[in-house]
Amino acid sequence: MTEEKEWDQTEILTLPSESVEVKDLLDSPGIEKASRLLLDGHCVAFPTETVYGLGANGLDEKACAKIFEIKGRPQDNPLILHTSSLDMLEDLISARARSSLPSLRALMDKAWPGPLTLIFEKSAKVPDVVTAAGPTIAIRMPKNPIALALIEKTGHPLAAPSANRSGRPSPTKAQDVYEDLQGLIPLILDGGPCQIGIESTVLDLSGNQAMILRPGYFTKEDLDPYFDQVAYDQSLLTEGEIPKSPGQKYRHYAPKAQMYILLADNLEKIDACLEDFIQDHGDQKVGVLLFEENRPQKGADESLSQGSIHDLQGLSQSLFANLREMDRRQVDIIYAVGLKEESGLALSIMNRMKKSASQQIIYCS
Ligand code: TXA
Ligand code: MG
Repeated sequence: MTEEKEWDQTEILTLPSESVEVKDLLDSPGIEKASRLLLDGHCVAFPTETVYGLGANGLDEKACAKIFEIKGRPQDNPLILHTSSLDMLEDLISARARSSLPSLRALMDKAWPGPLTLIFEKSAKVPDVVTAAGPTIAIRMPKNPIALALIEKTGHPLAAPSANRSGRPSPTKAQDVYEDLQGLIPLILDGGPCQIGIESTVLDLSGNQAMILRPGYFTKEDLDPYFDQVAYDQSLLTEGEIPKSPGQKYRHYAPKAQMYILLADNLEKIDACLEDFIQDHGDQKVGVLLFEENRPQKGADESLSQGSIHDLQGLSQSLFANLREMDRRQVDIIYAVGLKEESGLALSIMNRMKKSASQQIIYCS
């Protein structure tokens, strides 16, 4: 689907995001300009600590509808509202959900601002377009000072999905957003590369039991101490189950190339397996995503490092960036070395990798 270009130019404005305080950004020309556009009903892309977001005033129905058009996003996939304060949060959730807040205080103190999205019963204030007409609302308080300053300056919660065209890998740099949305939005705030690189953990608190609908930086082990029990949505554990989070059922994070994940008991087996596969592709351009500990693959047309296999944070930060770089290098096939232990952050990373590869996994024996 190609969206009609509304803007002659998409401006990229660079702002500092490290060692800077929200109050020092509030009156910067970048934040002023972005918040004016948002208040006028337009969409603006901005950095968060996870991935770049495509923001709109979350209480403006028409502006939120534009997000779906610009991204080519299915209408049944609800949006996350981003807040900069607990006061802002209270307006967005039902009286019943508000009464549960004291028991969530310790969790919020730990995780907010940060990469955790919480799902509550919604209040009447939240437009239907944001929740896909459902009874619940997803909310997070991002950590990036540019994001916080933008929300505070605008004075409203910002609806913001990842700022990619639907189905593409999430953007972790302003340039990634530009490649997907150039001409479709007036402004991208550039705060440099995102530190975390995969999207927030989505935790549903609207039912009887806390449930992880999308794994992310905060793991089940991080969340367990705050609840009697934290469950995983069954679809994260069993293939074929329908996910509770609408967004999880779509083809996602996909590079243009065919992607395969390689798994084995040890990296030597993967090295040997890769050497064989690379030979077999004739005219097709083959890219490999290796760990530092892998043997270099001289036969590959393109090779990128995912960092050390022991540095999961480095891997989460580089995953989407590497997939987009492979697209820029126009490879036809990507072989990516995966993680065989799936717990903690490794589970979240493998969740994204498997979706990127449309679940195509090769076990090297
Ligand atoms: O890190 C993030 O969460 C990024 C940054 C920009 O904040 N945002 C993000 O948004 O990843 P998006 O729209 O790409 O993903 C939101 C996910 C989708 O899987 C969606 O289906 C789910 O959250 N979601 C949103 N509201 C929901 C709700 N009320 N119930 C269940 N799932 C919901
Ligand atoms: Mg997304």
